[in-house]
Amino acid sequence: MANVVNPIAAKLHVSPTLEINELVSQARKEGKRVIHLGFGEATFPIAREVLQAHQDASNETSYMPVAGVEALRASIANFNANRLGVEISPDQVVVAPGSKPLLFALFDILDGAVLLPRPSWVSYEPQVLHAGKRLFWVETDPVDRHTITELSLLSAYHEAIVEGVVPRIMLINSPSNPTGRVFSADCIRTIKEFCKSRGIILITDEIYSDICYDESQKEISAFDSSKDDTETVILTGGLSKTYSAGGWRVGYAIFPPSSKGELIRKTILAYASECWSAASAPAQLASIKAFSTSQAMCSYRQSVTALHRYCTGRLYSVLKELGLDVAQPEGGFYVYPSFSPYSAQLNKLGIFTSADLSAWLIRECGLAALPGSAFGEDDDGPLYGRFRLRMATSYLYFQNEVERYKKGYTLLERCASGEEVQLPYLEEAIESLKNAVQKLRSVRI
Ligand SMILES: Cc1ncc(COP(=O)(O)O)c(C=O)c1O
Repeated sequence: MANVVNPIAAKLHVSPTLEINELVSQARKEGKRVIHLGFGEATFPIAREVLQAHQDASNETSYMPVAGVEALRASIANFNANRLGVEISPDQVVVAPGSKPLLFALFDILDGAVLLPRPSWVSYEPQVLHAGKRLFWVETDPVDRHTITELSLLSAYHEAIVEGVVPRIMLINSPSNPTGRVFSADCIRTIKEFCKSRGIILITDEIYSDICYDESQKEISAFDSSKDDTETVILTGGLSKTYSAGGWRVGYAIFPPSSKGELIRKTILAYASECWSAASAPAQLASIKAFSTSQAMCSYRQSVTALHRYCTGRLYSVLKELGLDVAQPEGGFYVYPSFSPYSAQLNKLGIFTSADLSAWLIRECGLAALPGSAFGEDDDGPLYGRFRLRMATSYLYFQNEVERYKKGYTLLERCASGEEVQLPYLEEAIESLKNAVQKLRSVRI
């Protein structure tokens, strides 16, 4: 049969995050109890005023401007200008149905090969490859908490040059999904200098930037709204994580006010006009409130961060006590342990890769977590990629939507004011993890 889809598209697979959802649903249909640590979907109750604004706008059915509603672009510009201490005009902002399509579009329209830190969020690699671009991994090491060093940048760059291609794009993501790492100001400086000196456009994905456990780290960013054409940094962010509204599909990109930045922004607008047209109208109108710097929204963001910090911190401590190789998360809602201390036992059970381990945990222990290989980790590589799993804590709060709204606001308030909180599903996840490790300890080697 002749090709139906073209060879590049034929390489696309369902995203591993969506795939694991299907595995969990399947296991649950079979009557099995599965704790879902596989999907990074924030599930706190949406801030009341944002929810109300969405309801009030539900009769708004017109297409919105391609760049996004002006008041929303102003709200996003103001929010980030406050956070970063730089000037940002609403004209620098483009709103889209999620930051994912914006990242997809950026990889598509920009020229040159791409540098990506390893490990990285599951969707970047397929997006880059689908855009017909070469990808070169910037290796990071768990020993220094996945810091990007000049050496690792140079090594990836030279690998590309030796293969006859020139990297022109780099993407970083801090706080990182999957590692939970927040890059230091020094690390950001190193990356910026490296990109500037080689004419590399830097995309900084800051979708988790509100969820930095150390408040002072929220302002660390590579984006400086520079008018200088010798350096181009583009920031992306959105509504999905801090505001628990992934399904509303609102994301944004902020471009520098330089002539290069303008050129890229205009090209993205043309792309958007031919592809998604605009983000949903009610969601955009509600987002004006979400990105507001009002006292109520600042408190909401603080309580969201406090609860994520509590939950990831507790999971981290237990994983460490269980003898896993794990670093303390600094932001986001992920913990990234390695089961490598139990390699011998795992091998005895016929488990040789992070994907094998992930499947075993779902099947035998009722725990779903994404394998490191989904984040570009090389199972056989020298950098301890083997047996790493990304555990998302975002589904550990509520059983369903009713519980989310019945208990959620109080839970957020209690945690923000330092009161004790009870998270039964977290405790259940911990029990399952203890059982899993117990199973491994009992394997004779
Ligand atoms: C690192 C990172 N970037 C971007 C996104 C995309 O988010 P959205 O398209 O909902 O804005 C996600 C979602 O999981 C993510 O984890």
